[in-house]
Amino acid sequence: MKLLVIGSGGREHALVWRLSLSPRVKKIYVSPGNAGTANNDRIENISETDINDLINFAKIHNINMTIVGPEAPLAAGIVDNFREAGLKIFGPTKAAAQLESSKIFAKNFMIKHKIPTAKYACFENAVEAHNYIDNEEMPIVIKVDGLASGKGVVVAKSKEEAHDAINKFTNNFYSQNILIEEYLEGEEASFIVMSDGTNVLALATSQDHKRLLDEDLGPNTGGMGAYSPASIITPDIYNRIMRDVILPTINGMSKDGIPFTGFLYAGVMISNKLNNSAEKDIKILEFNCRIGDPEAQPIMMRMKTDLVDIFEHAINNSLDKAEIMWDRRTAVGVVIASKGYPDNPELGFPITGLPKDTDECVVFHSATKKLNNEIITSGGRVLCVTTLGDSIRIAREKAYDIISNIHFDGMQYRKDIGWRAMKSNKKNN
Ligand code: AMP
Ligand code: GLY
Repeated sequence: MKLLVIGSGGREHALVWRLSLSPRVKKIYVSPGNAGTANNDRIENISETDINDLINFAKIHNINMTIVGPEAPLAAGIVDNFREAGLKIFGPTKAAAQLESSKIFAKNFMIKHKIPTAKYACFENAVEAHNYIDNEEMPIVIKVDGLASGKGVVVAKSKEEAHDAINKFTNNFYSQNILIEEYLEGEEASFIVMSDGTNVLALATSQDHKRLLDEDLGPNTGGMGAYSPASIITPDIYNRIMRDVILPTINGMSKDGIPFTGFLYAGVMISNKLNNSAEKDIKILEFNCRIGDPEAQPIMMRMKTDLVDIFEHAINNSLDKAEIMWDRRTAVGVVIASKGYPDNPELGFPITGLPKDTDECVVFHSATKKLNNEIITSGGRVLCVTTLGDSIRIAREKAYDIISNIHFDGMQYRKDIGWRAMKSNKKNN
């Protein structure tokens, strides 16, 4: 079987790595990939990135199926275009990808289908948004409509910060639409499923670390590290997320005439109820129409089923017949980013000390490229050191041990990935 994977990040490296373990795969092409993806002769990076060029490539090379990693080509309609050309592809259509590409579409959808989410107000220009802030309690959350690589949200503690965020967004992003949302307190988790439009297959649970710095301080990023499984998602919370969020979303999209095929990622906030009852409150912070990055790295590390079979079921509308087996161990992924990330990453530094893959550790590449015989940094998030261990503590120790040998100028990473799980393990033991 010949596959085409679209994207260049750590998520795509993790998908390609897992797919390449399938005995059914003859060749994987990655558009455009990174220095980590093309590391054996069954995997090849290609330079085509334009949708029409990719369609021609898929036809000429008899690609059996295409998997799309990032949100931008999905929002641009790559799935619609491939299907019109008679090619098999996994991902949502342009219309369905609005669940991520337009926060306002997603909010309206959640209200219509009674999916629990934070209260919000929408504004079409900065002046109205500024006026609204004057009468609100802080903290408050300011979001810009449209795709922003995880950088379109500011949790403002003061009115000054809220006004600054509105100015920053309306000056820097193409969209002038601002969404102002009630601040929710609690613990976040990533709940990711695959859907063929009707059936749903849940992936292992995970938890990301969105803030740049230890102790969840600093600006929001695309994600600085993740682990799987997420202990906050107890069996009861799992069932409630499926019942109250995932199924109503897949059914609602179908009823609205825009069936959702692809990865659906629900960012869930889990909070204590105001009346202090033991039951937790669940609210959706956001939907993404793709698997998360860096969540994909620990999730793929734990997957034991042939991923080609699963994608095939998803594309052929038979996900009800698919089942995924997971490694019972914990996987941890620690992101190493460039100096200046997320605002102004410094690029072009050689990376040294990368280990060989083992059963317990894979260093997934994000923004890397080969130059002469060196691997150099080429963007904000550079690597994700991903390990498996019998506990979160063991997996994490291994990851930091490996990181101590890796070097590039200005590298930064969080030292506390998995701290919530470590804390809850201590409490429960
Ligand atoms: P989003 O892209 O909407 O998930 O937002 C990115 C991050 O901002 C989330 O992962 C949260 O950490 C934070 N965030 C977003 N919305 C809220 C909210 N209503 N209350 C508290 N934090 C939020
Ligand atoms: N890690 C969060 C995301 O992929 O959006």
